[in-house]
Amino acid sequence: MFGLFGSSLMTIVFIYLVINIVLSDESIRPQTVKLAFTSNPSEMVISWFTEKENGDSLVHFSETHSTLLSWTKLQHKSGVNVTTSSAQPQNFTSDTWYGLSHTVLLSNLSPLTTYFYVVGGTSQVAYSQIFKFTTQAFDINTTATEPMKKVTPFHIAVYGDMGNGDGYNETVAHLKENMDRYNMVLHVGDISYCDYDKVEQGNQTVWNDFLKELEPITSKVPYMTTPGNHDVFYSLTAYQQTFGMPATSDEPWYSFNYNGVHFISISSESDLSPFTKQYQWIKADLEQYRRYNPNGWIIAYSHRPYYCSTQWDWCRKQTLRALIEATVGSLFQKYNVDIFLAGHTHAYERTYPVYQQLNIGNYDYPGGTVHMVIGTPGNQEGLDKDFIYPTPDWSASRFSTYGYAQLQVQNETHILWQFLGNQDRKILDQQWIVKGYFD
Ligand SMILES: [Fe+2]
Repeated sequence: MFGLFGSSLMTIVFIYLVINIVLSDESIRPQTVKLAFTSNPSEMVISWFTEKENGDSLVHFSETHSTLLSWTKLQHKSGVNVTTSSAQPQNFTSDTWYGLSHTVLLSNLSPLTTYFYVVGGTSQVAYSQIFKFTTQAFDINTTATEPMKKVTPFHIAVYGDMGNGDGYNETVAHLKENMDRYNMVLHVGDISYCDYDKVEQGNQTVWNDFLKELEPITSKVPYMTTPGNHDVFYSLTAYQQTFGMPATSDEPWYSFNYNGVHFISISSESDLSPFTKQYQWIKADLEQYRRYNPNGWIIAYSHRPYYCSTQWDWCRKQTLRALIEATVGSLFQKYNVDIFLAGHTHAYERTYPVYQQLNIGNYDYPGGTVHMVIGTPGNQEGLDKDFIYPTPDWSASRFSTYGYAQLQVQNETHILWQFLGNQDRKILDQQWIVKGYFD
């Protein structure tokens, strides 16, 4: 009897050791879990990274935390019902890149519903922790081309140009303190400055270090990005595979709808000349949305601004900036784009409603796009502290202080814009913007 007991004990210990060896293999452990919207409101994309292959990429999700928890503990043998989506991982082939990116699409989700999820692979048990997200408001009978016109209030955090350096740690801490209030984050390019410091290891390493720090944010709300010059210097494909935006590998522009607002992401790192692919796409996207919803909010974002007034070359004299103003600016005016968000210069700036360098209307009756620059969360290059004088007539507020911005869409007619300084956590600038109808 003792021998039988001893044999059983040995078996249990052996199984325990095997499980722990597998569980302790960090090379297949999912890292940098991120959420992203697609153009369809009933979908969500979940992406992550592993150093080594672990079969197909899997996401298991449920509306109930206890269901998912018991399912993961029992290795899905209990008859507990969770939903699973899968995809093939993508390998990096460059000699300065390593690992696999995983991008899995969840579809047929319900509106305004919280889902709990874990990610992993098919070969060995190596789940992430349990995360959760909440879907947006939408009518299950509509399609992606017929999004909600009614606004459901929401709150987003906005910044560009964030990477390891002066100000960065405090901005990340500040952001994490406030995360309960946000429904999404917009990082408008230059994500971690992956071309600095560790290029010999590949810029995936720099992105991974950055995204590990941000995982409590990126796994909770969609982390929507647009490429900056420090993101695509090496490989646009690497950027696209890492961040899982609803765009193709060589066309990084995209749009989506959220709670009654149309968002459009423009790549300032791709050609914006008239009649280029991107220009034609922007025109078609704005035209289609305006035909569908003539009075709805449109918020655009890109890495490079075309209204900014620091002494940096980009703001003072670059011909590319003037080209964007001429091409994108006229489309924004024609299709009534309400707000444009950007970074690139490391300062904060808010304009009056403006078109062709002239103020058009005011914040109560905007006749042109209001431009915001938020290049202030901190990075290796520091802040741009010198501004052009005299202050341009279109510049309403500008300063160089570490922090980030938040945007609250209240309803169909009002948006509250605020800049939050890191020091003392004070609101250093704010403005109500009323929905404008451009002539
Ligand atoms: Fe930049």
